[in-house]
Amino acid sequence: MPNLTSASATREDDAVAERHKALVTAPFRGEGWDTLNALVDVVYDPWIEHVPLKLLNGEKLAARLAEEGADILIVESDSVKGPVFEVPLAAIGSCRGDPNNVDVAAATARGIPVLRAPGRNADAVAELTVALLFAVNRGIVFADHDVRAGEVYRDGTIPYQRFRAWQLAGQTVGIVGLGAVGRAAKWRFEGLGMRVIAHDPYAPDATHTLAELLAEADVVSMHAMVTPDTTGMIGAEQFAAMREGAVYLNSARAALHDTDALVDALTRHHLGGAGLDHFVGEHLATDHPLCSMTNVVLTPHIGGATYDTEANHSRAIADGLADLFAGRVPDNLVNPEVLA
Ligand SMILES: NC(=O)c1ccc[n+]([C@@H]2O[C@H](COP(=O)([O-])OP(=O)(O)OC[C@H]3O[C@@H](n4cnc5c(N)ncnc54)[C@H](O)[C@@H]3O)[C@@H](O)[C@H]2O)c1
Repeated sequence: MPNLTSASATREDDAVAERHKALVTAPFRGEGWDTLNALVDVVYDPWIEHVPLKLLNGEKLAARLAEEGADILIVESDSVKGPVFEVPLAAIGSCRGDPNNVDVAAATARGIPVLRAPGRNADAVAELTVALLFAVNRGIVFADHDVRAGEVYRDGTIPYQRFRAWQLAGQTVGIVGLGAVGRAAKWRFEGLGMRVIAHDPYAPDATHTLAELLAEADVVSMHAMVTPDTTGMIGAEQFAAMREGAVYLNSARAALHDTDALVDALTRHHLGGAGLDHFVGEHLATDHPLCSMTNVVLTPHIGGATYDTEANHSRAIADGLADLFAGRVPDNLVNPEVLA
């Protein structure tokens, strides 16, 4: 059972409990910032403001917590593992949907509640997905390059000859993975006048098998989580099963597809193009075949990078802490067994 008491919640004539102190290394903003400051003292040192990048491991976090006298830790990218659990902590907030930067088992063993921020970046990733679709379909990156490079008239052609496309309205998009991002993408695609079909074995309203989806979709958009079942789920066979000229979007994780098979399908012009926001190891070599393809748009895992994502995770973690202080079980508590 965690030792969480709110000084602001005690009666004035009670012995005033000492306020907790939170070390916050995640970017924090909006309503959540106000809620947090009303609840606890805050030491704010967000990783995102550090240039060069400074990410803390368990050892460094433990030292920083001890130095600040903080007993609540709120992180986004730091690694809450090992020595950090030698510091007595009242709560941990991981500003991610999947708190895989926290050793949850170790926290649970010590009775420390761990909060997470589900769906914080769903709108952000959905917007980037739509941006990738437009960029691929209308060749926006390369059109922009032609203007900047003074190559509007090239090889005897005018741009109108080089940049023709079919409009998206009326096309069918197949969403693979109808979770937080998939649903946020769905209404946006519908807003573009696209017909949306979906495959997700765990979503009752996703009506298509993967094979049916691949056969019907002009655009295939990946939004599944990575599991043993979904790793490599789009390989040579699945790319071959897509419609001739289909556009493949993956703003989720590269682990969902076989990159060599994707390159092959693009090289053979079976696929019309691809938009990707993630690469194995977070990196793509500059001489990788994808880098020389003009029907491919590549972004470096920036899907979630909006200020709204930060405001969303701030609200989720601060509200979760407020629930803990009030003796309620937060919706976003990863290990409710610590409250039993
Ligand atoms: N590019 C970015 O910056 C960024 C940011 C956030 C999330 N993501 C990625 O986007 C993806 C979706 O994230 P989310 O927050 O919507 O997760 P989520 O957990 O809400 O949704 C994932 C969905 O995948 C479904 N799924 C599971 N197995 C499946 C299968 N075999 N076939 C089809 N669907 C299956 C689940 O039922 C669930 O609905 C994840 O891969 C996540 O890592 C990327």
